[in-house]
Amino acid sequence: MHKIFLFLLTILLVNLLQANEGKVCQKCHPIIYSEYYESSHRNASIYNNPIHKAMWDKHPKDEKGYTCAKCHSPSDLESLQTGKLTKNKTQVEEAISCIYCHTIKDVEEGDSSNTNISSNKKREFFTAQKGKKGKAEYKTVSSWFGLVKESSSSPYHKIDYDNENYYSGNVCMGCHSHTNNEHSFDISMLDAVISEKDENTCVTCHMPQVLGTKVTINKTKTHAYHGIAGIYHKREMMGKHIDFKVSNSDNGFNVKVVNKSNHALFGQAFRQGILKVKIIRGSKTIELKPFIFERVLAKDGQEVMPWDANQALKDTLIYAKRDISFDTSIEQGDRLVLTLGVQRISKDGAKKLGIEDNKELTKFRVLKTEKLSF
Ligand code: HEC
Ligand code: HEC
Ligand code: HEC
Ligand code: HEC
Ligand code: HEC
Repeated sequence: MHKIFLFLLTILLVNLLQANEGKVCQKCHPIIYSEYYESSHRNASIYNNPIHKAMWDKHPKDEKGYTCAKCHSPSDLESLQTGKLTKNKTQVEEAISCIYCHTIKDVEEGDSSNTNISSNKKREFFTAQKGKKGKAEYKTVSSWFGLVKESSSSPYHKIDYDNENYYSGNVCMGCHSHTNNEHSFDISMLDAVISEKDENTCVTCHMPQVLGTKVTINKTKTHAYHGIAGIYHKREMMGKHIDFKVSNSDNGFNVKVVNKSNHALFGQAFRQGILKVKIIRGSKTIELKPFIFERVLAKDGQEVMPWDANQALKDTLIYAKRDISFDTSIEQGDRLVLTLGVQRISKDGAKKLGIEDNKELTKFRVLKTEKLSF
């Protein structure tokens, strides 16, 4: 009975697939789906992301149309191919869909940006799982009448565990490597270097294993977090990949911020990292001037919009590490409180794009707080 039910369910789902791909996956992967629904990837279109919308509205237009589709809504094939933008279900519900990511066969490197090469298979997905390399097909098909009680793999789709890109994190680099404007200047700079020696990958840091089963059939204890640990979710987990080292200097103290990831931090246009520092001395609190990590984009020495930029006027991002010195001396008995956070868009950037009224966008989002006693 169980098998026949699955067979019918599969037929039903194949029909559903024409309408909304992700909804099909939701039937068997409900936890992953609900996380994905809150992710920056589901929300990457102009209809769900007000910063993206504001920037596209101000962006100069030409006959190529909406070129952002390549990375922000590649699942809307019509928009991708014609450059036309319409508010449809794909733009709103799955701008970067489950199937899109799970069928990236390879990543082709390019000058202005990389390109994802798709397998174009609707029902065979790539993924990574240590110790499971090799293709998996639904094992109970040959014993249709229930001799095999435990099914392995999926009745709905095939799985290919053999794609190295899913193990190294390279699967993310089709969109995340670089986005150059027409002046060959990278405006969403990540500066990432993937190395086999790295302890962590894009996936282990941004899609860590969290509690909850990855599928309703064959329960597992954990699954890869699809909400994306990062600016929106699980920021305290992100903070663990950044260290503070404090030392005394001649006229104050130094904070060394050590970045344990394989990329620069806060490189996206208009983004800001902020280090807030305060000293608690007895009943007094001394707030020091915060340090801002950012890249200010410019042309001929003047700050300009990202699409016009050909240089960085200022670059205080954290690459491997950054030393920041403060000229306030620390006294015996002081407590030092360091708070590192990120703002999706700087107040200045929000004003330039005319979205300064939306306070949610310029909210300070804490990644890490550390208290030290002297
Ligand atoms: C009828 C139920 C069903 C549907 C619908 C379904 N899956 Fe699955 N999926 C499974 C099962 C069962 C597994 C196998 C888990 C295992 O081998 O332990 C699986 C495994 C996977 C895996 C590999 C997980 C791993 O680590 O082994 C991926 C990726 C995946 N599914 C993606 C999708 C996507 C994308 C969709 C929607 C297009 C989808 N699935 C729809 C049942 C389903
Ligand atoms: C080659 C891929 C690619 C293309 C093409 C692309 N982007 Fe992006 N964009 C990204 C990635 C990746 C991010 C996330 C970067 C990060 O968070 O560091 C991003 C982030 C953004 C953000 C920040 C969103 C936020 O909420 O903080 C804006 C705004 C944006 N892009 C606008 C655009 C516009 C407008 C276009 C088209 C003119 C465009 N992008 C084209 C890859 C791309
Ligand atoms: C941004 C790309 C991306 C999107 C979008 C995406 N996935 Fe994944 N998914 C991955 C990667 C990468 C892995 C491999 C995780 C790992 O190595 O542990 C993965 C793993 C999985 C797994 C196995 C989980 C595990 O713990 O092994 C399943 C099942 C899955 N995805 C289903 C889905 C479904 C369903 C959706 C849509 C609701 C979806 N994925 C959307 C990139 C994506
Ligand atoms: C050791 C853990 C680690 C690894 C490995 C890692 N990241 Fe990150 N990533 C972080 C931390 C920490 C931040 C800063 C917090 C934040 O903004 O989410 C970050 C931020 C980001 C951002 C936002 C950048 C911005 O402009 O503010 C993107 C996009 C990103 N990572 C993508 C990737 C990709 C793609 C890879 C693989 C090449 C990767 N990360 C590898 C830890 C990691
Ligand atoms: C199809 C292109 C595409 C792929 C593939 C992709 N991303 Fe993204 N990613 C984006 C875009 C576009 C944004 C910015 C969305 C926005 O805010 O509008 C983004 C945003 C992010 C952010 C910053 C926002 C946040 O949620 O903290 C992180 C981190 C991130 N992606 C990690 C990853 C990782 C890890 C992978 C690989 C498993 C991956 N991405 C694969 C396009 C992609």
